[in-house]
Amino acid sequence: MYGRTDYEQMAARYDAGRTLPHELLDSWRVALRPYVVPSTFPLLDLGSGTGLFSDALADWFDTDVIGVEPSEAMRRKAASNRSSSRTTIIGGEAERIPLRKSSCSHAWVSTVLHHIPDLARCAAELRRVLSDQAPVLIRNSFGDRLDGIHWLRYWPSARRLAARRWPTVEATIEAFGSAGFELIELEDVGEVVAPNLHAYYDRMLVRANSTLVLIDDEDFARGLKKLQQAAREAAALEPITDRRSLLVFGQR
Ligand SMILES: C[S@@+](CC[C@H](N)C(=O)[O-])C[C@H]1O[C@@H](n2cnc3c(N)ncnc32)[C@H](O)[C@@H]1O
Repeated sequence: MYGRTDYEQMAARYDAGRTLPHELLDSWRVALRPYVVPSTFPLLDLGSGTGLFSDALADWFDTDVIGVEPSEAMRRKAASNRSSSRTTIIGGEAERIPLRKSSCSHAWVSTVLHHIPDLARCAAELRRVLSDQAPVLIRNSFGDRLDGIHWLRYWPSARRLAARRWPTVEATIEAFGSAGFELIELEDVGEVVAPNLHAYYDRMLVRANSTLVLIDDEDFARGLKKLQQAAREAAALEPITDRRSLLVFGQR
């Protein structure tokens, strides 16, 4: 672990740097569709943050969603963003999920893994709260799959840090394997994160990425300058697309 991110501080600016309208998240609806089955149990959104996916998941899959989020400030933001009556957010963390055994239909874990010091313990907790055969659906970047994230090209020090700080796919498979899960899918999913480089610059300026918070301020300013220059010189204003990985774990 390279220092815990202070999400009490991050909450006020998180959405300005990270939120996306539901229609831009649609590639995730399509990618998740084969793994989501109707259930009377709620879908768990672990580390739900400001609720980027919570309401979308409830709408897409016609399901109740329970978000578990340790940061009070992120939970407050989620409550003010909430648009679906099917979403509930509670306090709690991955290593001690405050839910009963076998009480959730699926687990969704979006850009949270690199914040969890003990992944094997998180996996065991997920195994406990999930019903039989329920899958874990993970959206994350991985230390050994860095090429899909656009901003890493402007901040080489952040790229080096990400390679060490973000878990590898192999380490994730091992941690989840120890709790009785097996990998059934690994694919990259594209997401349009900004309509063009200028809008992308405005997003990155907010510094709402935990890895960018960890590099020094001069490094951050240098990368911003490079990005601003690239936006000025861009011949065509094309959308910026990131590719993050979807890992699906089933129960053995
Ligand atoms: C990058 S944000 C992702 C939020 C949301 N899932 C999304 O996709 O926008 C990471 C979230 O993980 C939460 N988090 C940090 N440590 C955690 C832990 N041990 N267990 C569960 N969530 C954690 C943070 O509070 C933060 O809200």
